[in-house]
Amino acid sequence: MTHSPSPNIVITGFMGVGKSAVGREVAARLGRAFIDMDETIERQTGMSIADIFAQHGEEVFRALEKELLRELSFQKDLVIATGGGALAPAENRVMATRTSLVVCLTAGVDAILERLETDESRPLLAGNNRRDKIQTLLARRAAAYAEIPYQIDTTGRTVAEVAEEVIALAEGNAPRYLRLPVAAPGGRDYDIALGAGLLAHAPRLMAQRDVTGDVIVVSDANVAPHWSYPLLDAFAQAGVRAKLITLPAGEAHKNLDTIRRLYDRFLEAELDRSGVVVALGGGVIGDMAGFAAATYLRGVRFVQIPTSLLAMVDASVGGKTGVDLPQGKNLVGAFKQPELVIIDPDVLATLPPEEFRNGLAEVIKHGIIADPELFTQLETSGPSSLEALIARALRVKIGIVQRDPFEAGERAHLNLGHTFAHAIERVSDYAIPHGQAVALGLIAAARLAAGRGLCPPEIPRRIEAVVERLGLPTTLSGYDPAAILAAMGTDKKRKQGKVRFVLPRAIGDVGVYDDVRKDEVLTALHSLLPNPSHG
Ligand SMILES: NC(=O)c1ccc[n+]([C@@H]2O[C@H](COP(=O)([O-])OP(=O)(O)OC[C@H]3O[C@@H](n4cnc5c(N)ncnc54)[C@H](O)[C@@H]3O)[C@@H](O)[C@H]2O)c1
Ligand SMILES: [Zn+2]
Repeated sequence: MTHSPSPNIVITGFMGVGKSAVGREVAARLGRAFIDMDETIERQTGMSIADIFAQHGEEVFRALEKELLRELSFQKDLVIATGGGALAPAENRVMATRTSLVVCLTAGVDAILERLETDESRPLLAGNNRRDKIQTLLARRAAAYAEIPYQIDTTGRTVAEVAEEVIALAEGNAPRYLRLPVAAPGGRDYDIALGAGLLAHAPRLMAQRDVTGDVIVVSDANVAPHWSYPLLDAFAQAGVRAKLITLPAGEAHKNLDTIRRLYDRFLEAELDRSGVVVALGGGVIGDMAGFAAATYLRGVRFVQIPTSLLAMVDASVGGKTGVDLPQGKNLVGAFKQPELVIIDPDVLATLPPEEFRNGLAEVIKHGIIADPELFTQLETSGPSSLEALIARALRVKIGIVQRDPFEAGERAHLNLGHTFAHAIERVSDYAIPHGQAVALGLIAAARLAAGRGLCPPEIPRRIEAVVERLGLPTTLSGYDPAAILAAMGTDKKRKQGKVRFVLPRAIGDVGVYDDVRKDEVLTALHSLLPNPSHG
């Protein structure tokens, strides 16, 4: 039998994630040679890593590491476990990823601490306060590790399980995706998996995170005909029992009557606490399935598979769920962190273009709040891909909800443009879609900010131009500014009777203001009229 050589498999990641053990197992199963880089350097120099560090310094060790990596890159069929810092330099990373399949193993700080407990041979952790040292070093290396396309979380998993996943990757059976971890309160951390074609891999992504058990997929009448079958099929193939509940589509159904129906259907399906609710839809389905999952039997596990752009970059992240009351939107709800969010941009193929544009309004918003580069991309050629656009917009939301999970402060920034938007939606009796109202709100907020000298006048001009470029409205006709102003008085987000505004100070910098005068708001609203008398 002839054998054509395969590229090396390089296993990297932080100390204590199990690189050597997993590498050895993968090599054994594939019948390949195994190289542990640290061991090899120790053998070649006749010194321990700790002694090399102590006697010659880290730099000498890094040079040895780099040279070894270069030598190995000329070979094939190897399984290589690197040292924890070997791929931190960009040139080493490029060299490795060009010639090999590179897999980064990850683990939580606790798991790392536990695995290293009895190990005294780590020069970078010498002395006390190992947890602090690990955290500092992890933070320093996070950006480099994040650039490695394949990431496998090893927390709570056996060497054999992780090895199996590495082999699946090597054999091309595993999906390639971007893993965006989200830290949530009470250790409820979860991953966002982002990648084209991930819908079909949902069962595997869930199983990898121990999200097993019977599944109820909640979807709506627009989404289910396109995407529920591939998903249910994937569950069937994985041997997972899954049932579909299809709800009528639209915000009008985001209410307690529908939640009641969901409870009935959950009971009918005999969903118990070992089951999982999977939301397959836009923000309306995510909010309702999440609220039902938070409350049914005092909480069952929940997975989000957002299908609208808005839900992908906004609604599916941050743990807020809820429904509307006749008195107003989102008045009843709960914080419910998902176990996992799976984002497959391919499902956007069936999203109506208008809904896509509505989602873009939130993407613009995220750029203004915290990502000037995203905003510049929207001003010019647009990001390199839909996936890149979603990832950037998501990172803004992830950063904010991690720092402020329960809306005590910074999270208010996400309301940029929304004080205006909610009032516009209300006076139009929701004839104006949320995304369009947000686009108008972003312009109005920026003009108001410029009016009080918070930002230069080119900021509202740039925002208006981007809004227009992306096919969203820049003017509003047929509604009285005074009526819109009056509608702001009933906004849920007002604090102690005061209406709060988030205003831009620059692209990438916003602040919260509760001293905005009525005349300023009116001027901003007047400026949205097609032929404003001034402004
Ligand atoms: N929980 C949060 O943090 C949060 C944040 C922002 C918004 N929201 C909520 O999200 C909701 C808005 O979300 P939305 O804009 O996704 O609304 P939506 O769920 O109503 O989706 C918009 C429309 O697109 C359809 N659709 C969705 N995906 C599709 C697909 N792939 N193919 C074909 N049709 C598709 C839906 O059926 C619907 O008709 C609001 O209720 C809002 O309150 C929640
Ligand atoms: Zn919004």
